[in-house]
Amino acid sequence: MYKADYWNEQYGDKRPGWDAGSVSIPIQTYFEQIEDKNMRILVPGAGNAYEVEYLHAAGFRQVFLMEIAEQPIRNFLSRVPSFPREHVLQEDFFQAHGQYDRIVELAFISSFRADERQAYAQKMHELLEPQGKLIGLVFNHRFNLNHPPYGGNEQEYDALFRPFFHFDALPIAHNSIKPRAGREIFLKLKKRLLV
Ligand SMILES: C[S@@+](CC[C@H](N)C(=O)[O-])C[C@H]1O[C@@H](n2cnc3c(N)ncnc32)[C@H](O)[C@@H]1O
Repeated sequence: MYKADYWNEQYGDKRPGWDAGSVSIPIQTYFEQIEDKNMRILVPGAGNAYEVEYLHAAGFRQVFLMEIAEQPIRNFLSRVPSFPREHVLQEDFFQAHGQYDRIVELAFISSFRADERQAYAQKMHELLEPQGKLIGLVFNHRFNLNHPPYGGNEQEYDALFRPFFHFDALPIAHNSIKPRAGREIFLKLKKRLLV
């Protein structure tokens, strides 16, 4: 697993390749339908955190940004100085505690190799309230790289998430930004109660 130093280096002068530069429309559209502004929302591996910026501006009061690297957090706070500092969690997702109503995933899973993803799915499950949902946008494309982002495909995500979450299908997002059209899957996964 890559450490904070590696990730910090990716946020140099240029935006990293995975960074869309603005809020993802499918995520925005999903949250526009939600009236409860007090729901607890976690965005792990938030990077430059445009989704956190959007949720904060939209009036959601319990939004938490989690990031292992300092540089994207700095970038975010200089853009959004009004964001509450106590909602910025500079920590490793795998060490995280707490319970959230929604977790927002954006290319975060692409940080991890296939053999690291079981622990990731299990942790997502653990951090959600019983009625909680994992909402996200993940690459529907495997990058042939020996470093992140690794990407993935529908079959892999289905096999990974099925034991932990209820969902019907993993649809291709229909409102991705142009360069990613047809190459992103929209996740809307409901926590499965395990006995
Ligand atoms: C592929 S980037 C995606 C960033 C952002 N979600 C986006 O779509 O632009 C993965 C992000 O996860 C962060 N990250 C990687 N491992 C982490 C961990 N164990 N805990 C918290 N953040 C982590 C990295 O620093 C990086 O910003």
